[in-house]
Amino acid sequence: MTQQIPDTHAGKAKHPLAIRWFHWLNFPILSLMIWSGLLIYWANDTIYTFPEWFYERTHVAFRLSEGMSYHFLLMWLFALNGICYVAYTIVSGEWRELVPGKGALMQAFQVVLHDLGIRKEPLPVAKFNAAQQIAYTGVVLMGLGSLLSGMAIYRPIQLSFITQALGGYTAARFIHFALTVGYVGFFFMHVGQVIKAGWPNFRAMVTGHE
Ligand code: HEM
Repeated sequence: MTQQIPDTHAGKAKHPLAIRWFHWLNFPILSLMIWSGLLIYWANDTIYTFPEWFYERTHVAFRLSEGMSYHFLLMWLFALNGICYVAYTIVSGEWRELVPGKGALMQAFQVVLHDLGIRKEPLPVAKFNAAQQIAYTGVVLMGLGSLLSGMAIYRPIQLSFITQALGGYTAARFIHFALTVGYVGFFFMHVGQVIKAGWPNFRAMVTGHE
């Protein structure tokens, strides 16, 4: 007699293996990019001055060259991981689920009303709702912005066309900094939504299946 083992992993994965790898690799890479960026930022904190206790607690003072070494090494991984992710979504067709379509802003507004408990009607069934599409496509564009503004301040002479296109060195530096603040904001919103969505949603990003 053959024993029937329930196959909980049957069917197509919600998140393909490649996406899960790109996603989770991005987390340590981005965290280290932000940390090494802070080591650099401390040496010339003109855009926004953090309070002294922040520098003391994070131990970022007098570590400029260390920060530059890490930052300029990890930027290649960040770029490569991002390029692979975007290339994969294009080749696999996953982009169709991710890129916001017509009327996405209005639909995203309805998602917000729904999440706040103001709108009672159920949301349309889709892998990603319009708010997620905007957030996920937005964060990829932010990644592109970080790469471009980073290149603009890394090689302002050789890549002066990028620096000029972004409004000059100071503006490029501001954009680079503002995007970093944006990641921190995205992170808290994203993790908050993941906690709200529950365990099966999180598990799907780890194992592929809910
Ligand atoms: C501890 C940190 C993180 C956790 C727990 C987490 C968790 C998740 C989960 C569960 C999903 C699937 C969402 C769904 O099915 O609706 C997801 C998707 C996504 N997350 Fe995260 N995430 C983290 C960090 C990040 C970071 C740092 C970024 C980028 C800055 C990011 C960008 C994305 C993107 C773009 C997607 C959509 C992926 C796709 O299917 O193509 N996440 N995340």
